Amino acid sequence: MPESWVNFAERIGADLHLDLPEPSDPSRSPGSSGSSGSGGRRAALIRALREAVRSGRLAPGTRLPPYRSLAADLGVARNTVADAYAELVAEGWLTARQGSGTRVAERAQPLRRAERVPRKAPPRARGPRHDLRQGTPDASAFPRAAWLASYRRALQQAPNEVFGPGDPAGRVELREALTEYLARARGVRTEPGRIVICSGFAHALRLLFGQDRSQDKGGNKGGGGGGSVLRGPLAVEAYGLGFHRELLAAAGVRTVPLPLDEDGARVDRLGRERAVLLTPAHQFPTGGPLHPERRAAVIDWARARGGVVLEDDYDGKFRYDRKPVGAVQGLDPERVIFIGSVSKSLSPAVRLGWMVLPERYVDDVLAAKGEREAWASVLDQLSLADFIVSGAYDRHVRRMRQRYRSRRDRLVTALATHAPHIEVTGVAAGLHAVLRLPPGTERSTVKAATWQGIALDGLAEFRHPDAVETAIPVRDGIVVGYATPSEHAYGAALEALCGALPPGEDH
Ligand SMILES: Cc1ncc(COP(=O)(O)O)c(C=O)c1O
Repeated sequence: MPESWVNFAERIGADLHLDLPEPSDPSRSPGSSGSSGSGGRRAALIRALREAVRSGRLAPGTRLPPYRSLAADLGVARNTVADAYAELVAEGWLTARQGSGTRVAERAQPLRRAERVPRKAPPRARGPRHDLRQGTPDASAFPRAAWLASYRRALQQAPNEVFGPGDPAGRVELREALTEYLARARGVRTEPGRIVICSGFAHALRLLFGQDRSQDKGGNKGGGGGGSVLRGPLAVEAYGLGFHRELLAAAGVRTVPLPLDEDGARVDRLGRERAVLLTPAHQFPTGGPLHPERRAAVIDWARARGGVVLEDDYDGKFRYDRKPVGAVQGLDPERVIFIGSVSKSLSPAVRLGWMVLPERYVDDVLAAKGEREAWASVLDQLSLADFIVSGAYDRHVRRMRQRYRSRRDRLVTALATHAPHIEVTGVAAGLHAVLRLPPGTERSTVKAATWQGIALDGLAEFRHPDAVETAIPVRDGIVVGYATPSEHAYGAALEALCGALPPGEDH
């Protein structure tokens, strides 16, 4: 401890150590501002005094020595001490009053250390041993290196304006890349001016139908979906993602279930609804494509009624046994809002999606999005644009298609071998399959699976609560996602699954 400091501590009657480095002290951090000269001494003194007050070593009310004596004690200039006191007075740590000198402020409460109650480590929530829930792609296959390369290139080439407020339509580089990609890969007919970038399908629904009403107080000025572009009632498939139905219900949109049969949604049942939400490439979750006649019929309905089709193209790229079914949007770009995202193809963590809009909705969607981009990171948009244009996206999708096809084949083979009485459907595409079960066995099968450490969902989870009639007549089934388990764990997951299925007749 420097001699000068001992004097200071004695003078104020405190057992105090101020860690004030000598001017030549090489251990001072090079980054500290003004680490040499009076600026550095001043900053060091401020830090040391602040710490002494904060820790309680200088109690509230303690009178500090006059500038001159402390300066002499510490071997610093008088002004250095005066400046340090003034700064701490301004910050509220000290008070200075004519005639009573500088004191530690009364309300400069020392930091009360949180009482350390030794806590037992909380039991670690054990996840399922085998996760066969649908929904997520193979997280271990995210193309880290290629994405990083795209990000780096995007960052290097980005003009400075990229780092200012973003265009709510999204970066034009990405909209141009998507225009070309979606035409080539999905048969979508559009142009960059009709694409609006969003943070995924759920965000697109919010933009179209308005924000959750409970969160829309206080005049949300274009904060992501205040006003609604479309209104209900909205026809939806009798089986679908409950989360999307809830989101729509929260926005005050009534959804009307459309029955399903082997050819997809019964669009002939469409009536007075203003819009219909479909998963034409791969019905979610039951699995089939919408029959070509129904694709044409739904466009006829939209033309005749002035309605609009919302096309959820969530996994349209993953088709295994023949070429992907093109987008319904290609039949009439003025009657279909085509919505896609990278959630299945790359990762749901990226939060990037797109809406391909009929001309008449573009302005309203942009108004709903707000004055500037507030949702989808502009840097991620540029990375995705590069990822697509460089061919990395095609390569990744091709690689994943092969991997998922092989997983799908292993599932089908395992079932054919160990549970031949179980019909497996919806396997031509996507990242999940539906296993049809004997009537009345769905709940017990899900339970048996849970007991064996397998997470999966029963078909009932996806059923619209008002679906009285579905042409898939209340058939029991389970939805098996095959993308999630890691490669080495997949065999064991399949074995466990087969063990949890109800036995066949001959057992
Ligand atoms: C039916 C369906 N639609 C759309 C999506 C994509 O949702 P998002 O883009 O909000 O992640 C998913 C999930 O990935 C889905 O299961």
